[in-house]
Amino acid sequence: MATFPVINMEKLQGEERGATMELIKDACENWGFFELLNHCIPAELMDEVERLTKAHYKKCMEERFKKSDLASKVLNGEAAETDVKDMDWESTFFLRHLPVSNMAEVPDLSDEYRATMKEFVAKLEKQAEELLDLLCENLGLEKGYLKKAFCGTKGPTFGTKVSNYPPCPKPDLVKGLRAHTDAGGIILLFQDDKVSGLQLLKDGEWVDVPPLRHSIVVNIGDQLEVITNGRYKSVMHRVVAQTDGNRMSLASFYNPGSDAVIYPAPELLEKEAALEESQVYPKFVFEDYMKLYAGQKFEAKEPRFEAMKAVNLGPIATA
Ligand SMILES: [Fe+2]
Repeated sequence: MATFPVINMEKLQGEERGATMELIKDACENWGFFELLNHCIPAELMDEVERLTKAHYKKCMEERFKKSDLASKVLNGEAAETDVKDMDWESTFFLRHLPVSNMAEVPDLSDEYRATMKEFVAKLEKQAEELLDLLCENLGLEKGYLKKAFCGTKGPTFGTKVSNYPPCPKPDLVKGLRAHTDAGGIILLFQDDKVSGLQLLKDGEWVDVPPLRHSIVVNIGDQLEVITNGRYKSVMHRVVAQTDGNRMSLASFYNPGSDAVIYPAPELLEKEAALEESQVYPKFVFEDYMKLYAGQKFEAKEPRFEAMKAVNLGPIATA
Protein backbone atom coordinates (compact mmCIF):
# COMPACT_ATOMS: atom_id res chain seq x y z
CA MET A 1 0.00 0.00 0.00
CA ALA A 2 1.19 3.55 -0.76
CA THR A 3 2.64 5.42 2.20
CA PHE A 4 0.76 8.22 3.93
CA PRO A 5 1.43 11.51 2.06
CA VAL A 6 3.78 13.90 3.82
CA ILE A 7 4.30 17.29 2.16
CA ASN A 8 7.44 19.31 2.80
CA MET A 9 6.15 22.87 2.36
CA GLU A 10 9.67 24.26 1.92
CA LYS A 11 9.88 22.47 -1.41
CA LEU A 12 7.14 24.71 -2.79
CA GLN A 13 9.78 27.44 -3.01
CA GLY A 14 12.37 25.67 -5.15
CA GLU A 15 12.67 23.58 -8.25
CA GLU A 16 10.69 20.73 -6.65
CA ARG A 17 7.54 22.84 -6.66
CA GLY A 18 5.90 20.93 -9.50
CA ALA A 19 6.47 17.53 -7.90
CA THR A 20 5.23 18.82 -4.53
CA MET A 21 2.04 20.22 -6.08
CA GLU A 22 1.51 16.78 -7.66
CA LEU A 23 1.87 15.15 -4.25
CA ILE A 24 -0.76 17.50 -2.82
CA LYS A 25 -3.08 16.76 -5.73
CA ASP A 26 -2.67 13.01 -5.32
CA ALA A 27 -3.28 13.28 -1.56
CA CYS A 28 -6.48 15.31 -2.10
CA GLU A 29 -7.76 12.90 -4.73
CA ASN A 30 -6.79 9.60 -3.18
CA TRP A 31 -6.39 10.07 0.57
CA GLY A 32 -8.48 13.06 1.66
CA PHE A 33 -5.62 13.55 4.14
CA PHE A 34 -1.99 14.66 4.15
CA GLU A 35 0.58 15.84 6.63
CA LEU A 36 2.58 19.09 6.41
CA LEU A 37 6.17 19.61 7.46
CA ASN A 38 7.99 22.95 7.43
CA HIS A 39 4.70 24.83 7.37
CA CYS A 40 4.28 28.39 8.63
CA ILE A 41 3.73 27.62 12.34
CA PRO A 42 6.96 27.89 14.37
CA ALA A 43 7.96 24.77 16.33
CA GLU A 44 8.43 26.78 19.55
CA LEU A 45 4.87 28.07 19.32
CA MET A 46 3.57 24.53 18.85
CA ASP A 47 5.56 23.40 21.90
CA GLU A 48 3.97 26.17 23.96
CA VAL A 49 0.47 25.27 22.75
CA GLU A 50 1.12 21.63 23.66
CA ARG A 51 2.51 22.43 27.10
CA LEU A 52 -0.38 24.74 27.96
CA THR A 53 -3.06 22.41 26.53
CA LYS A 54 -1.76 19.47 28.54
CA ALA A 55 -1.46 21.57 31.71
CA HIS A 56 -5.01 22.85 31.23
CA TYR A 57 -6.31 19.29 30.84
CA LYS A 58 -4.58 18.14 34.05
CA LYS A 59 -5.77 21.14 36.02
CA CYS A 60 -9.31 21.65 34.75
CA MET A 61 -10.55 18.66 32.76
CA GLU A 62 -9.09 15.36 33.98
CA GLU A 63 -11.05 14.97 37.22
CA ARG A 64 -14.28 16.01 35.51
CA PHE A 65 -13.71 13.41 32.81
CA LYS A 66 -12.98 10.59 35.26
CA LYS A 67 -16.14 11.40 37.21
CA SER A 68 -18.35 11.48 34.11
CA ASP A 69 -20.97 8.71 33.80
CA LEU A 70 -19.21 7.12 30.84
CA ALA A 71 -15.71 7.15 32.25
CA SER A 72 -16.61 5.96 35.73
CA LYS A 73 -18.58 3.01 34.34
CA VAL A 74 -15.78 2.01 31.96
CA LEU A 75 -13.05 2.56 34.56
CA ASN A 76 -14.98 0.44 37.09
CA GLY A 77 -15.53 -2.31 34.53
CA GLU A 78 -19.32 -1.85 34.72
CA ALA A 79 -19.99 -0.59 31.17
CA ALA A 80 -21.94 -2.77 28.74
CA GLU A 81 -22.00 -2.31 24.98
CA THR A 82 -25.39 -0.58 25.12
CA ASP A 83 -24.08 2.01 27.62
CA VAL A 84 -21.35 3.23 25.28
CA LYS A 85 -22.76 2.83 21.79
CA ASP A 86 -23.38 6.59 21.38
CA MET A 87 -20.29 7.68 23.30
CA ASP A 88 -16.76 8.85 22.56
CA TRP A 89 -13.84 8.50 24.98
CA GLU A 90 -12.79 12.13 24.77
CA SER A 91 -12.66 15.28 26.83
CA THR A 92 -13.20 18.39 24.74
CA PHE A 93 -13.94 22.08 24.57
CA PHE A 94 -14.44 24.38 21.61
CA LEU A 95 -12.86 27.72 20.76
CA ARG A 96 -14.39 29.89 18.06
CA HIS A 97 -12.15 32.40 16.28
CA LEU A 98 -14.16 33.64 13.28
CA PRO A 99 -16.42 35.40 12.54
CA VAL A 100 -16.27 36.45 16.24
CA SER A 101 -13.94 35.00 18.88
CA ASN A 102 -15.42 33.38 21.99
CA MET A 103 -12.01 32.96 23.61
CA ALA A 104 -12.67 35.58 26.32
CA GLU A 105 -15.84 33.78 27.45
CA VAL A 106 -14.49 30.23 27.62
CA PRO A 107 -14.03 29.48 31.34
CA ASP A 108 -10.89 28.24 33.13
CA LEU A 109 -8.34 29.36 30.50
CA SER A 110 -5.29 31.20 31.77
CA ASP A 111 -4.35 34.52 30.18
CA GLU A 112 -1.17 32.88 28.91
CA TYR A 113 -3.16 30.06 27.25
CA ARG A 114 -5.56 32.55 25.63
CA ALA A 115 -2.70 34.68 24.27
CA THR A 116 -0.75 31.67 22.96
CA MET A 117 -3.81 30.18 21.29
CA LYS A 118 -4.59 33.53 19.68
CA GLU A 119 -1.14 33.64 18.12
CA PHE A 120 -1.35 29.96 17.08
CA VAL A 121 -4.74 30.17 15.37
CA ALA A 122 -3.82 33.38 13.51
CA LYS A 123 -0.97 31.42 11.90
CA LEU A 124 -3.24 28.43 11.24
CA GLU A 125 -5.79 30.66 9.54
CA LYS A 126 -3.08 31.95 7.23
CA GLN A 127 -1.91 28.39 6.55
CA ALA A 128 -5.47 27.26 5.76
CA GLU A 129 -5.92 30.10 3.27
CA GLU A 130 -2.58 29.36 1.63
CA LEU A 131 -3.63 25.71 1.30
CA LEU A 132 -6.95 26.68 -0.28
CA ASP A 133 -5.03 28.61 -2.92
CA LEU A 134 -2.73 25.64 -3.59
CA LEU A 135 -5.86 23.54 -4.07
CA CYS A 136 -7.25 26.19 -6.46
CA GLU A 137 -4.05 26.01 -8.47
CA ASN A 138 -4.25 22.22 -8.71
CA LEU A 139 -7.94 22.37 -9.64
CA GLY A 140 -7.45 25.03 -12.30
CA LEU A 141 -9.64 27.49 -10.37
CA GLU A 142 -8.67 31.13 -10.10
CA LYS A 143 -6.67 32.15 -7.02
CA GLY A 144 -9.00 33.03 -4.14
CA TYR A 145 -11.95 31.04 -5.53
CA LEU A 146 -12.28 28.67 -2.57
CA LYS A 147 -11.81 31.40 0.02
CA LYS A 148 -14.51 33.40 -1.70
CA ALA A 149 -16.80 30.37 -1.91
CA PHE A 150 -16.56 30.08 1.91
CA CYS A 151 -17.22 33.75 2.57
CA GLY A 152 -20.97 34.30 2.86
CA THR A 153 -21.83 37.74 4.23
CA LYS A 154 -19.66 37.51 7.38
CA GLY A 155 -16.57 35.69 6.14
CA PRO A 156 -15.55 32.11 6.93
CA THR A 157 -16.14 30.28 10.21
CA PHE A 158 -12.99 29.19 11.98
CA GLY A 159 -12.78 27.28 15.24
CA THR A 160 -10.71 24.78 17.20
CA LYS A 161 -11.90 21.65 18.96
CA VAL A 162 -9.42 21.00 21.76
CA SER A 163 -9.52 17.32 22.69
CA ASN A 164 -7.78 14.96 25.03
CA TYR A 165 -8.13 11.21 24.74
CA PRO A 166 -7.23 9.78 28.14
CA PRO A 167 -5.94 6.21 28.49
CA CYS A 168 -8.83 3.77 28.19
CA PRO A 169 -8.90 0.29 29.71
CA LYS A 170 -11.41 -0.93 27.10
CA PRO A 171 -10.45 0.35 23.61
CA ASP A 172 -12.45 -2.47 22.01
CA LEU A 173 -15.59 -1.38 23.80
CA VAL A 174 -15.47 2.39 23.24
CA LYS A 175 -13.88 4.49 20.50
CA GLY A 176 -11.98 7.68 21.25
CA LEU A 177 -14.10 9.20 18.49
CA ARG A 178 -16.44 7.20 16.29
CA ALA A 179 -15.96 7.14 12.51
CA HIS A 180 -17.20 10.20 10.61
CA THR A 181 -16.33 12.59 7.80
CA ASP A 182 -15.85 16.26 8.71
CA ALA A 183 -18.71 18.49 7.61
CA GLY A 184 -16.76 21.63 6.87
CA GLY A 185 -14.08 22.93 4.53
CA ILE A 186 -10.45 22.25 5.34
CA ILE A 187 -9.25 20.94 8.69
CA LEU A 188 -5.81 21.51 10.21
CA LEU A 189 -4.88 19.20 13.05
CA PHE A 190 -2.10 19.49 15.59
CA GLN A 191 -1.94 16.00 17.03
CA ASP A 192 0.10 14.45 19.81
CA ASP A 193 3.46 13.25 18.48
CA LYS A 194 3.72 10.37 20.96
CA VAL A 195 0.23 8.97 21.47
CA SER A 196 -1.30 7.82 18.19
CA GLY A 197 -4.88 6.76 17.53
CA LEU A 198 -6.12 8.68 14.48
CA GLN A 199 -7.02 6.41 11.57
CA LEU A 200 -8.54 7.04 8.16
CA LEU A 201 -10.44 4.64 5.96
CA LYS A 202 -8.62 3.90 2.69
CA ASP A 203 -9.75 1.23 0.23
CA GLY A 204 -11.82 -0.41 2.95
CA GLU A 205 -9.01 -0.55 5.52
CA TRP A 206 -8.19 1.58 8.54
CA VAL A 207 -4.79 3.26 8.09
CA ASP A 208 -2.90 5.06 10.90
CA VAL A 209 -2.15 8.75 10.49
CA PRO A 210 1.44 8.67 11.74
CA PRO A 211 2.34 11.05 14.58
CA LEU A 212 5.15 13.31 13.36
CA ARG A 213 6.69 15.94 15.58
CA HIS A 214 5.68 19.51 14.67
CA SER A 215 3.60 18.39 11.70
CA ILE A 216 0.11 19.61 10.82
CA VAL A 217 -2.33 17.01 9.52
CA VAL A 218 -4.73 18.34 6.89
CA ASN A 219 -7.99 16.81 5.76
CA ILE A 220 -10.78 17.62 3.34
CA GLY A 221 -14.31 18.22 4.63
CA ASP A 222 -17.66 17.53 2.96
CA GLN A 223 -17.91 21.11 1.60
CA LEU A 224 -14.71 20.81 -0.43
CA GLU A 225 -16.02 17.55 -1.84
CA VAL A 226 -19.14 19.41 -3.03
CA ILE A 227 -17.29 22.45 -4.39
CA THR A 228 -14.77 20.27 -6.26
CA ASN A 229 -17.66 18.20 -7.62
CA GLY A 230 -16.20 15.10 -6.00
CA ARG A 231 -12.65 15.41 -7.34
CA TYR A 232 -11.50 15.72 -3.76
CA LYS A 233 -13.19 13.50 -1.20
CA SER A 234 -13.91 13.88 2.48
CA VAL A 235 -12.75 10.62 4.03
CA MET A 236 -14.03 8.66 7.05
CA HIS A 237 -11.73 8.80 10.06
CA ARG A 238 -11.84 7.82 13.71
CA VAL A 239 -9.79 7.88 16.89
CA VAL A 240 -8.97 4.57 18.56
CA ALA A 241 -8.55 4.99 22.31
CA GLN A 242 -5.19 3.84 23.65
CA THR A 243 -4.58 1.91 26.85
CA ASP A 244 -1.47 4.00 27.61
CA GLY A 245 -0.84 7.71 27.37
CA ASN A 246 -3.03 10.75 26.99
CA ARG A 247 -3.54 11.87 23.39
CA MET A 248 -3.79 15.61 22.70
CA SER A 249 -5.53 16.80 19.55
CA LEU A 250 -6.32 20.33 18.38
CA ALA A 251 -8.48 20.24 15.26
CA SER A 252 -9.05 23.62 13.63
CA PHE A 253 -11.92 23.85 11.18
CA TYR A 254 -11.77 26.44 8.42
CA ASN A 255 -15.38 26.33 7.26
CA PRO A 256 -17.81 28.34 5.16
CA GLY A 257 -19.73 31.17 6.80
CA SER A 258 -23.18 30.09 7.99
CA ASP A 259 -25.02 31.79 5.08
CA ALA A 260 -22.53 30.82 2.36
CA VAL A 261 -24.20 29.07 -0.56
CA ILE A 262 -22.23 25.94 -1.42
CA TYR A 263 -22.29 24.29 -4.84
CA PRO A 264 -19.88 22.68 -7.30
CA ALA A 265 -17.56 25.16 -9.02
CA PRO A 266 -19.12 25.66 -12.48
CA GLU A 267 -15.72 25.21 -14.14
CA LEU A 268 -15.37 21.73 -12.66
CA LEU A 269 -19.01 20.88 -13.26
CA GLU A 270 -18.72 21.54 -16.97
CA LYS A 271 -15.79 19.21 -17.41
CA GLU A 272 -17.13 16.50 -15.11
CA ALA A 273 -20.77 16.55 -16.13
CA ALA A 274 -19.93 15.33 -19.59
CA LEU A 275 -18.22 12.30 -18.08
CA GLU A 276 -20.74 11.24 -15.49
CA GLU A 277 -24.14 12.79 -14.92
CA SER A 278 -24.63 11.23 -11.49
CA GLN A 279 -21.62 13.04 -10.02
CA VAL A 280 -23.55 16.27 -9.68
CA TYR A 281 -23.58 17.54 -6.09
CA PRO A 282 -26.29 19.69 -4.52
CA LYS A 283 -26.50 23.44 -3.94
CA PHE A 284 -27.41 24.53 -0.40
CA VAL A 285 -26.81 27.00 2.41
CA PHE A 286 -24.00 25.82 4.69
CA GLU A 287 -25.94 26.21 7.96
CA ASP A 288 -28.72 23.97 6.62
CA TYR A 289 -26.11 21.29 6.01
CA MET A 290 -24.78 21.73 9.54
CA LYS A 291 -28.26 21.30 11.03
CA LEU A 292 -28.56 18.00 9.22
CA TYR A 293 -25.01 16.97 10.16
CA ALA A 294 -25.67 17.57 13.86
CA GLY A 295 -27.93 14.53 13.95
CA GLN A 296 -26.09 12.43 11.36
CA LYS A 297 -22.40 13.02 12.05
CA PHE A 298 -21.60 9.34 12.52
CA GLU A 299 -23.42 8.23 9.39
CA ALA A 300 -22.37 8.15 5.74
CA LYS A 301 -22.25 11.52 3.94
CA GLU A 302 -24.12 10.42 0.79
CA PRO A 303 -27.63 10.54 2.34
CA ARG A 304 -26.80 14.06 3.57
CA PHE A 305 -25.95 15.14 0.02
CA GLU A 306 -29.19 13.52 -1.20
CA ALA A 307 -31.23 15.33 1.45
CA MET A 308 -29.65 18.62 0.39
CA LYS A 309 -30.59 17.94 -3.23
CA ALA A 310 -34.21 17.82 -2.10
CA VAL A 311 -33.89 21.44 -0.84
CA ASN A 312 -33.09 22.49 -4.42
CA LEU A 313 -31.82 26.05 -4.49
CA GLY A 314 -32.02 26.16 -8.26
CA PRO A 315 -29.62 25.37 -11.07
CA ILE A 316 -25.89 25.97 -10.98
CA ALA A 317 -25.07 28.42 -13.73
CA THR A 318 -22.32 27.15 -15.97
CA ALA A 319 -20.23 29.51 -17.99
FE1 LIG B 1 -13.06 14.68 12.24
